[in-house]
Amino acid sequence: MSEESSMWAQATQTKSAFTPLTGSDLTVENLPLPASFTWGAATAAYQVEGASNAAGKGPSIWDTYTHLTPSRTNGANADVTCDHYHRVEEDLALMKQLGMETYRFSISWSRVIPLGGRDDPVNEAGIAFYSRLIDTLLAHGIKPSVTLYHWDVPQALYDRYGAFLNTNEFRADFERYARLCFASFGGRVTSWVTFNEPYIISIFGHLNGSLAPGHCAEMGTDTVHEPWRVGHTIILSHASVVQIYANEFQTKQKGEISIVLNGHFYEPWDASSEADIEAARVRLEFYIAWFADPVYLGRDYPAVMREHLGNRLPRFTEQELELLRATCGMNAFYGMNHYSTKFARQLTTTPPPADDWTRNIEESSVNSAGQQIGPASSMPWLRIAPGGFRKLLNWIWDRYRLPILVTENGCPCPGEEDVDVAIDDRFRQRYLGLYLDSISRAIYEDGVSVIGYYAWSLMDNFEWSSGYGPRYGLVHVDFETLKRTPKNSAYYLKETFQERRKQA
Ligand code: NOJ
Repeated sequence: MSEESSMWAQATQTKSAFTPLTGSDLTVENLPLPASFTWGAATAAYQVEGASNAAGKGPSIWDTYTHLTPSRTNGANADVTCDHYHRVEEDLALMKQLGMETYRFSISWSRVIPLGGRDDPVNEAGIAFYSRLIDTLLAHGIKPSVTLYHWDVPQALYDRYGAFLNTNEFRADFERYARLCFASFGGRVTSWVTFNEPYIISIFGHLNGSLAPGHCAEMGTDTVHEPWRVGHTIILSHASVVQIYANEFQTKQKGEISIVLNGHFYEPWDASSEADIEAARVRLEFYIAWFADPVYLGRDYPAVMREHLGNRLPRFTEQELELLRATCGMNAFYGMNHYSTKFARQLTTTPPPADDWTRNIEESSVNSAGQQIGPASSMPWLRIAPGGFRKLLNWIWDRYRLPILVTENGCPCPGEEDVDVAIDDRFRQRYLGLYLDSISRAIYEDGVSVIGYYAWSLMDNFEWSSGYGPRYGLVHVDFETLKRTPKNSAYYLKETFQERRKQA
């Protein structure tokens, strides 16, 4: 038995130790999906492109962050990473071969506007690169889905005014960047995402500092207020750009636009405790509804956030609320990144810190009875818990009533340092199979509208502060030679979508 399969066996043997979360177990059933359901894979510019200063590209905050001393990214940077910039034809041909129907990628803002600002020059070579990428996709019959912002703000904007920390300046610069992208690519791109994972930008970038720009208490930044200001800027910039798209481009280009929000599902740490049951609910509001209520419901932040955060949470002016109300219905889908489920525990004996961001709720993968939420991937927080995914699909559908597009889902595998385990990635196949079963159950048993699925990621790439450790790809990348080798999960997905949709 290989190391990986024995790990899986161990994981499934301990299954009896789990409280089944939904009645489903960890056996893949290959349940049907609708014929109209689409699938593909996702990447982000900084994680795959490389060519970090080629052809006029300006630096982003990630170019700076990955070159800090001492390193905050495991000594790794993405100057070259997968070199997708120079190998895009090869990569897209591979996608075609693997049966993918759509590709979610992001544009590097500083590749198209090196200094980022509304009066700064455009880099035509950057526009030409994305134009070629889009044309090649279309020639292969693969639909492009473009994310405008996946964490790589131009360094010049950060230097000028702190990027997200200055709402009005950022918003004006982001509007110009979005207009440029709609005008340059919008005739060919009909699926747009403004921001990827605002929660992570706010909390990981401006509170615990594990992602660029790395603000945290140790650096002396204002972790009490910054994350909430950043979130506010993102929500208003999103709404402005949705309005711009609707007013200036949509009639002609006939595309769709939305935002991508991430979030775990939460189960109570102690299922018999009212406080923990409430904590699991509150955690979803602080994580997801923080953004989703203003964006999709056109209203203020959740009441529980206002109550707990008080003046730390910025206020929307009447005019801004009007913008939110006017644009909330223009979002065509709910963009959902989802990986795992956790337990939520309400702390009562220790007071929250001044920069508390959870209402003093602790997260964990193990509950009060010592049971794990599911088998661990190679990232300890990312565990297989398909029941939580189904519950979260239901929670989102009940609250927002928008068709859900799963814009990211996937995992790295235990034991993948061994290239054979990495390629015969059975852990990932089970994970993907089970999560697709959850989608099927949500659609057919619960009546949730789920319209498509992007695996994270097309290929192994630069995993932010974890560098090149965890490998999320459907395609293996040897970072010495840059050789691409499809993993078995890539073939598994190709077949499973053929089969599951045939049955539907
Ligand atoms: C979400 C992010 O969007 C992506 O950039 C990241 O690599 C994956 N999660 C995995 O952590």
